[in-house]
Amino acid sequence: MREDKPSRTAYKVAMNIVTLGAKPEMDKIFPPGTVQATEKLLAASGAAGARTIRWSRSQRVRSIYEAFDWMLPGQFEAFAHRKAFCERQARDGIETGATQILVLGAGYDTMGWRLAPKFSGVHFFEIDHPATSRLKAKGIDAMGRRDNLCLIAEDLGQHKLSDVLKHNASWDQRAQTVIVAEGLLMYLAHEAVRELFCQCAMIAGAGSRIAFSHIPAGADGRPDAGRWTGLILWLQKAIGEPWIWSIRPEELGPFLEKLGWIHDPALAGTTDKHGVEFYAVAKK
Ligand SMILES: C[S@@+](CC[C@H](N)C(=O)[O-])C[C@H]1O[C@@H](n2cnc3c(N)ncnc32)[C@H](O)[C@@H]1O
Repeated sequence: MREDKPSRTAYKVAMNIVTLGAKPEMDKIFPPGTVQATEKLLAASGAAGARTIRWSRSQRVRSIYEAFDWMLPGQFEAFAHRKAFCERQARDGIETGATQILVLGAGYDTMGWRLAPKFSGVHFFEIDHPATSRLKAKGIDAMGRRDNLCLIAEDLGQHKLSDVLKHNASWDQRAQTVIVAEGLLMYLAHEAVRELFCQCAMIAGAGSRIAFSHIPAGADGRPDAGRWTGLILWLQKAIGEPWIWSIRPEELGPFLEKLGWIHDPALAGTTDKHGVEFYAVAKK
């Protein structure tokens, strides 16, 4: 990832949401308001112009995404399922006592902005690389700040999560928390993923959960993106955001246990693969 440039993959996810939102029936999968808020954020931050957003809603762009599905089956609609999964985890967590939601590598995700006014007793935090986080903050300022939403601009490859949150007066490391790592872990090195889970266990109280998406590892240990894995991995590398970390689903439980988490498939409520990813939840 380039230090000075907002994340291209975060932009790609957000634009995909705009295009997918124009497809009939997707409103049944996306959490309410996701598509509208994403469009608003892209425009307000300046990440995308009004014409680009309009164009993204067109049938032509939708057809392009659908054509690419032959390479990564299910990937186009996967973003709606992923958003739904993460929001369900946040809402379930709040219902069962969580008072903090932390979204790691938040990109242009709008969950915090949308849910913060509905759950005024919950503190929402987002962390992203400075270039992306600052652009997003500009958009949030224009859309209307939330008192209980805090955007933190930090490179988690440079600073430990515990150090980052230590400097935030609102963070309570004893509070029951829902941590969301959506479309993030594949961009990190193996050691960084281990460290991140350890750090997450340190900064959250009892009963906390971490919800995340992950790419399964193939027989050669690389992320398995199906038939076109070699090409996809090359393309990701070429845009400067390579997929690095992956794990065999059967290894997830033992992996998490060593890092302070208990894999909880029942809490995830799904074992489906959407596009290249599985979704998982672990409890502290
Ligand atoms: C594929 S995007 C996903 C964005 C968002 N989670 C979503 O799904 O809409 C990955 C995000 O992780 C962020 N990211 C990657 N490496 C990071 C790091 N070392 N520190 C902070 N954020 C990072 C990127 O800036 C980007 O916004």
